[in-house]
Amino acid sequence: MLKKLITIGLFGVFVVSMFIYSGGNNFASADSNKTLTIAHRGASGYAPENTMAAFEKAVDMKSDLFELDVQMSKDGELVVIHDTSVDRTTNGSGMVKDLTLDELQSLDAGSWFGEEFAGEPIPTLGEVLDEYRGKTGILIELKSPSLYPGIEEKVAEELRERNMDKPNNNKIIVQSFDHESVQTFNSILPSVPTGVLVGYSSTGISDEALNEFATYAEYVNPSKSMINVNLVDRIHELGMETHPWTVRDLESAESLLNAGVDGIITDYPDYVNDRK
Ligand code: G3P
Ligand code: CA
Repeated sequence: MLKKLITIGLFGVFVVSMFIYSGGNNFASADSNKTLTIAHRGASGYAPENTMAAFEKAVDMKSDLFELDVQMSKDGELVVIHDTSVDRTTNGSGMVKDLTLDELQSLDAGSWFGEEFAGEPIPTLGEVLDEYRGKTGILIELKSPSLYPGIEEKVAEELRERNMDKPNNNKIIVQSFDHESVQTFNSILPSVPTGVLVGYSSTGISDEALNEFATYAEYVNPSKSMINVNLVDRIHELGMETHPWTVRDLESAESLLNAGVDGIITDYPDYVNDRK
C-alpha cells in the first residue's frame, strides 16, 4: 500500500512539474530560427541611418531585410529620410517637402554620425531599389504620407517599373503608421504585402482593430513594448505576422524571440542574429 502511495505521489509530482514547466515556458512553440532580422533605417547603430552606408552594413551583417523611410521632395521625387526636416541628420536645414531633389542630395547626411561617413548623400528610393533589388528584402515605410498626396502611387510605380510588384516571398513590404495610406497603397498594388505600424498604447490592440487590419494588411508591427505571447497568437490567428520595433538592447531581442514574433526591427542586427 505504502509503495503504491509513493508511486502515485511521485507520478503526481512529475505531472505537476511538467505542467509548471510548460506554463512557465509559454514560448515553447516559438521557432526563433525563423525570426527575420530587419535592420532599422539600415544598420543604423553602426552607420548613418537611411544612407547607402547603413544599407550596405545591414547586408554585410546578414540582415534578412532592411527598413527605410520614404518621403517626397519639393519637385516630387521620392527620397529616403526619417524626419520631416533635414535638420537632425544633415548639415542643412528646412523641411524635406520644401527642398528640391538637387538641394536634398547636395547635403551631407553622414558627418553627424561620424567623420568617416562625411559626404554620404540622402538616397532616392529608386537608387536603393536599383542597388538592392534581388539582394535583400526591403521594408518600405511611408513616412508622414499626409504631407505628400499621391506618394502611394509614386512608390507603387517605382516598384512596378522594376518588376518588384510581384509576390516575392515578402521581400518587399510597405508599411505606415498612417493606416489610411496603407489601405490606399493596398488598393493600388494588392500584390505587395502591407503592414500597419502601431505606436505604444497601454490599452493594447483590440480584436476589432486587428480584424480590420486583416482586411488590408499582412503585418501588424507594434512598438516592442506591446508584444506578449497573447498578442502574437491573436495576430497569427488572423493569418497575419508581426515585426515589432525597435530593438536596441540584448534583453529586448531575447524577449521578442521568446514571444514568437516573425521578425525583429533593430538598429543592431547582430543583437538578433547572435541569439537565433
Ligand atoms: O519600422 C518601424 C519603425 O521604423 C517605426 O518607427 O520612427 O523609426 O520610423 P520610426
Ligand atoms: Ca521607420
